[in-house]
Formats: sequence, structure tokens, C-alpha cells
Amino acid sequence: MKKVRSIIYKDGKLKLLDQRKLPVVTEFITCSTYEEVGECIREMVVRGAPAIGATAAYGMAIGAMTSSVKDTLTLVKELEHIAEYLCQTRPTAVNLFWAIDRMLNVAKANENLSLEEFKERLLEEAHQIANEDIEINRRIGAHGEKLIDDGDTILTHCNAGALATVDYGTALGVIRAAHEAGKKVHVYADETRPYLQGARLTAWEMVQEEIPVTLITDNMAGYVMKLGRIQKIIVGADRIAANGDTANKIGTYSLAVLAKEHGIPFYVAAPVSTFDFSIKTGDEIPIEERSPREVTHIGDIQIAPEGVKIFNPAFDVTPHEYITAIITEYGVIKNPDAEKIAALQDQIQKE
Ligand code: MRU
Repeated sequence: MKKVRSIIYKDGKLKLLDQRKLPVVTEFITCSTYEEVGECIREMVVRGAPAIGATAAYGMAIGAMTSSVKDTLTLVKELEHIAEYLCQTRPTAVNLFWAIDRMLNVAKANENLSLEEFKERLLEEAHQIANEDIEINRRIGAHGEKLIDDGDTILTHCNAGALATVDYGTALGVIRAAHEAGKKVHVYADETRPYLQGARLTAWEMVQEEIPVTLITDNMAGYVMKLGRIQKIIVGADRIAANGDTANKIGTYSLAVLAKEHGIPFYVAAPVSTFDFSIKTGDEIPIEERSPREVTHIGDIQIAPEGVKIFNPAFDVTPHEYITAIITEYGVIKNPDAEKIAALQDQIQKE
């Protein structure tokens, strides 16, 4: 578990660890309004699909608590607008929409409560989403750890760790669970240009926990695979389509293709809230494009000439054929396809 908790709710305010400044500075931003919460998601103070979801849930609760309307029915209507605002912060990670929908459903189901009780109920739901996330990640870890052998070196991309969730992590959760089970694991972390989540966040988490980690630049991944140094690849996910196609941080697709070429198992670890059962394939996943500045600059240092054209997609989609297995809190789906994911959806609905 990370030593600093990155999403803290206290007395009507949400404190978010500013992940843009890690690992050099540990600083929190305090949000008192839902607009401030939305801004922190958009600007990547907080990032990673499950963390964005939990943060947005608190955004909904804070939106309700700070509202000046005088009756519950009007507040439910206002929450629909707040939901729309929060939905516009980042487009790819479906956990954002999942958490906001869950909060809206709770709001609609409780519109007969008094205003005070209603606000408390929403806050309770946000806490529940946050607490469940930790529990779910532990279950993902317990299932995924069985796929890891003692002595494995595991390559990961971006940060799907405690910082990207409420705690423990998905891809890094599997690695943590293997480490906790006494297996010797070594992590290779891609630096993950342009935003450097691997260098700044994954490396930081692993160093803190004393899990051996080696940092490489993204373009070294093929070479280290060819050298035979990598036994497994594990990444997180931002949205998984009904056939298993998976959106994750830009560069994930290249890793999956390289993994296939080198016969290395390629695993995706994600909670079921990352599945978007409404879309058939990954072609339908909206891919966020971010500011050109993320490519032209590293921090405040300009590394490209003024006037150059920039393309900065934040995510790519890995076709399901490249994925050895998807690890969820329900278990491991080997060779994921539409049929197996429909069976998972059935299982979830029966609960
Ligand atoms: O742009 P980011 O940093 O929000 O992207 C994060 C990722 O791509 C993660 O791999 C994904 O959200 C899974 S986090 C458990």
C-alpha cells in the first residue's frame, strides 16, 4: 500500500495528492466545490481510471452538499447538471461515467429522503465506491498473483498502481500480491512518454515499497524483450469493450504486439467497472487527445521547435487477440472474447 493516501475526504472537502508534482514534491490540492474536483480530474492532479471514478463520486457528493437548493427533488435535477459537468472532464476511462451513473442512480432512488439525509446518503455512497475499490484491487491481486512465478521479471506501462486507484492498484496490485506472497519479482517500468507516469509514479511506488524496479525509456521495451529479460507484461485498462479490446495508456498496443512476437504473456488487470458492455469493439472507444505541450515540453523545458505539428493521443486500443488474459475481481478470463465477456456480464447481473 502506498504510504501517502492520495484521495482524502474530510469535513466537506476533498484533498487530492497532486500527482503532477510527484515524485519531487508531495503536495495536496483541496477541493471545496464540484467544479474544483472536475478541474483536478481534467488537469490530471488525480489520474488512473479507478481513481478518477472515486474522485468523481466525491465530486457528486460535494456538489450535493454545497448546493443551496431547498428540496431534494430540485437537488436531484441539479445533480444531473453536475454529472454532465464531471462527465466532460476526461473521455476515455469508463470508470468516470460508471461512478457518476452510480451516484445519479442512488440520488434518484432516494429522492423521497429529507435534504440532510439525502446529502448524507450520497456521501456514504462515495465512501462506499472508494472503499470497495481497495477491496476489489486486493481480489484482482489475489487472482493475478497465481499467474506470476517466483523469479519473474514483469514489464508494466504507465501507472496502474495505488496512485491510479484508491489504494493497492490493479496491474501493480498483482505485482504487490506476488511480492506479499513471498515471490521474488522484478519490475521493469516504461517511463511512459509524454506524461511520464511510469518514471514518476510507478517507479516511485515500487521504490517506496522496496520492490526491485528498473526504469527504461519506452523505446527500450522491444530490446529488453529480445534480451529475454521479461517473463510477463501486466498493464491496467481505461475501458474494455464487450469483445475484450482494451484501451490503455498510449504505447500499450505496441507492447502487446512486441509481446506476441517474443512469446511473452500479456495481461490486463482491471475491475469490472472498467468494462463498457455497451460497445462491441475497441473501435468505439473515444480516445482522448491532450495538449501539444505534453509532447513539446518535459516539465518546463522545451524539447521541440516552435511551429512543429503535434499529435498527442493519450490512449490506444489493444485488440483482444493480443491479450493472454484479463484479470478482474471475478477471476481470470483467458483468451478474452465476446462470448467469455458476455458470461462475465451474466455473472455480474446475477449478483
Ligand atoms: O492518463 P492517465 O494517467 O489517467 O492514464 C492511466 C492509465 O492508462 C492506466 O493504465 C489505467 O487508467 C489503469 S489505472 C489502474
